[in-house]
Amino acid sequence: DDPEKLAEFQAKIDADIKVEPRDWMPEGYRKTLIRQIGQHAHSEIVGQLPEGNWITRAPTLERKMILLAKVQDEAGHGLYLYAAAETLGVSRDELTEMLLDGRMKYSSIFNYPTLNWADIGAVGWLVDGAAIMNQVPLQRTSYGPYSRAMIRICKEESFHQRQGYDIMMKMAQGTEAQKKMAQDALNRLWYPSLMMFGPSDAESVHSTQNMAWKIKMNTNDELRQKFVDQTVPQAEYLGLTIPDENLKWNEDKGGYDYSDPDWTEFFNVLKGNGPCNTDRLEARNKAWDDGAWVRDGLMAHAEKKRAAKTA
Ligand code: ACO
Repeated sequence: DDPEKLAEFQAKIDADIKVEPRDWMPEGYRKTLIRQIGQHAHSEIVGQLPEGNWITRAPTLERKMILLAKVQDEAGHGLYLYAAAETLGVSRDELTEMLLDGRMKYSSIFNYPTLNWADIGAVGWLVDGAAIMNQVPLQRTSYGPYSRAMIRICKEESFHQRQGYDIMMKMAQGTEAQKKMAQDALNRLWYPSLMMFGPSDAESVHSTQNMAWKIKMNTNDELRQKFVDQTVPQAEYLGLTIPDENLKWNEDKGGYDYSDPDWTEFFNVLKGNGPCNTDRLEARNKAWDDGAWVRDGLMAHAEKKRAAKTA
């Protein structure tokens, strides 16, 4: 890239002027945005699987309607994000194919199973809670289409977090057995939720450049700390215990000291060895293959219309 153009681009970012699809941008900026937005879109789509798993078994009609609406919202989030990525010159089909053959990732968290109804509460509370913590600052991200998609997504995501907390409240105030289920869900999902923010700042490959470009607004560790600080009082209110013996308020830093997740497990999940990686990719591949006739039909229809127009 031309150094003069690069300096101009950086000055624009520093002045908080949004980058729009037709503007000049460094190839690295375009590439990392496609990676991040694409990965984010895939996460929304794959994220429907662990929750969709409980739609038919929700305990009441009301809970079923709420969960159905939430899972549909996630599909919508995926679509806004694919549309944002397409403005960078990649097609949705290409992105999907890269997910299906393992060239692109989705969030590590969705490789963990939802074993019972309490997990649906914990996913809403912790996973959507972590997602919002990461996504609220992304509303100010430098790429216009991504930042605008984030505004709407965050509104819906905060409803998701509250519905999860509401399930946890019901369980935590329920029978002894229900309270135990809520605690067990927290025990299993706590560390995988902390992993959602990505590796420690020392291990994060993209943070420095992407923060300079304002693609990322905070480091991984900053957001993880904020998440812990916000979530501990919520757990206390529920009467549940965060599974971390080292969790302790640190007056000097004005936040909690906490234990890191097992990073070996995290990198192992990224390599495809989490409890549900195979299932998730099989489900997405099956959906893609099963939908081939619809895509073919639409293409044939478009072709017929085009031919009729030019005739
Ligand atoms: N799951 C899977 N992969 C991850 C995760 C994670 N939780 N965290 C980091 N990684 C990967 C990165 O993609 C990168 O690998 P790559 O270069 O092969 O793509 C590698 O680990 C190193 O990490 P970083 O350099 O820190 O990566 P990055 O700067 O992209 O930060 C983060 C990761 C914070 C997740 C960032 O991409 C981001 O903010 N993304 C948008 C939010 C998002 O994707 N949310 C999805 C979950 S929320 C939901 O969908 C409900």
